[in-house]
Amino acid sequence: MIQRKGNRNPKTKIRTVSKLMKKHATDIDFAAVLRAVNIPLHIIGPDERLLFGNPAWERYLGLRVDEVIGLHINDILKDTNIEYYFAIETGENGNVKKISHFEEKTHGSVGLTALKLGKSVSMFVYDTDRSETMVNSTPIFKDGKIQCVLTTCLDMKRSLEYREQMLEIAHQNKLITEELDMYRKQYMSEGLIGDSKAVRELRKIIEDTAKTDATILITGESGVGKEVLTNEIHRLSARGNKPLVKINCASIPAALIESELFGYERGAFTGAVKSKMGMFEMAHGGTILLDEIGELSKSLQPKLLRVIQEREIFRVGGTTGVPINARIIAATNQNLSEMVAQGDVRNDLYYRLNLIPIRIPPLRERKEDIPLLSAYYLRKFNTKHLKNKTLTEDAMEALIAHSWPGNVRELENLLERLVIIGNDAEISSFRITNILQDIQASAPLESENGEAPSSLKKMVSQYEQNILQSALRSHGSTYAAARALNSSQGTIARKAKQYKLVW
Ligand SMILES: Nc1ncnc2c1ncn2[C@@H]1O[C@H](COP(=O)(O)OP(=O)(O)OP(=O)(O)O)[C@@H](O)[C@H]1O
Ligand SMILES: [Mg+2]
Repeated sequence: MIQRKGNRNPKTKIRTVSKLMKKHATDIDFAAVLRAVNIPLHIIGPDERLLFGNPAWERYLGLRVDEVIGLHINDILKDTNIEYYFAIETGENGNVKKISHFEEKTHGSVGLTALKLGKSVSMFVYDTDRSETMVNSTPIFKDGKIQCVLTTCLDMKRSLEYREQMLEIAHQNKLITEELDMYRKQYMSEGLIGDSKAVRELRKIIEDTAKTDATILITGESGVGKEVLTNEIHRLSARGNKPLVKINCASIPAALIESELFGYERGAFTGAVKSKMGMFEMAHGGTILLDEIGELSKSLQPKLLRVIQEREIFRVGGTTGVPINARIIAATNQNLSEMVAQGDVRNDLYYRLNLIPIRIPPLRERKEDIPLLSAYYLRKFNTKHLKNKTLTEDAMEALIAHSWPGNVRELENLLERLVIIGNDAEISSFRITNILQDIQASAPLESENGEAPSSLKKMVSQYEQNILQSALRSHGSTYAAARALNSSQGTIARKAKQYKLVW
């Protein structure tokens, strides 16, 4: 029978190893090896005198070996502050063999006991206020005679302190993970509400794709639930308990986005005093959402393409690639294929991102979801604002009749407003139409220069521009304007840029 290498008898293996050791051992400076060990150790000869002590032992006792070499070990220890009055001798299996409690503190070397007994001695020596040390002395034989005794000391107090610290850190870590988990669940618990055919189909797609690592492109108007869907995909994937990192390509200035996404090395640019991890690295093991992907500058598009293809990034100023393990989800409310046609988005990037396209239809195309969503938000805001309001049948009909240009976000905001304002227990259709008319009326139709816009498209765009301009002026920031207009900051920032608005 042919014996395979891996099946060799372990004894043969040991023999081979020791042969090898013999062959090469002469080349190794064992004293240097012992000096490098970071555990205090020393060696005494059969005459009980010091032959060797390593730097860790020097530090431990606060002495210099070259000043004490050749001296009797007890004379050396006598001059140090190592002393103990309690010792536990343990057997080879670690069991307690003998407990000695000395009348007076002693500094007797454990090595001498090993020398006397001719076998290994382990002792836990204990001094109430100072030290707790595990001392292990082992005689080393040559031709049947003891040639020296090697003694190691393990500072248990420090080890215990380390252990306590480690346990504390582990405990803290567990608490943080649990808390994070709780927030994650709370934050994501809303899930995808709705029972329309469209939402059921979305659920099916999520189920089929969540467990894969395939790149997903989510499209849909502002406020339809692209972020909600991303949360769901992440939650249902095997990456669910890892980070979900979201970056809005429209809200970060072009000059910063590269370092935000990929991180940077120290000295990569003025102000880079230390290196920083980018979003891709932060999402390690989890998911990264590239929101408003249509806003990613053309110069960064090849870099993103590279990440998708090679699964590797280069930090700004870095020369070595960093492997990336993050599932990529991109989202946009723009028409990416149109942007490809206009040359604003690279074709190859579009096809890579569009591996699994998911389009979320606007709320007006799935009005069956309105009753469920309304009931959900009514419950949520009643609880939040300590109210108990209900919707009349007419009110529900008014909600269904509205076209919801701001989609679910608009519905959510309207319901919160309805719950907060007024003391009537019932929300009537009258109040709903009033508020919706108010919102429409607050938008001026005329352009700022007083000229009437010529086409419907221009009129709508002018209308939008005016609303944005006045919101930005009165609220001062894209974030505040987004809140006031029931929109997202990304959308406002993008449109402000598109219309070149100043405020
Ligand atoms: N199906 C849904 N179920 C529950 N809540 C939803 C649903 N869809 C949207 N929402 C809510 O509507 C609001 C807007 O959703 P989300 O932020 O996901 O929209 P978005 O498509 O990312 O919008 P934008 O393009 O403006 O960023 C959120 O508060 C979200 O919780
Ligand atoms: Mg969004």
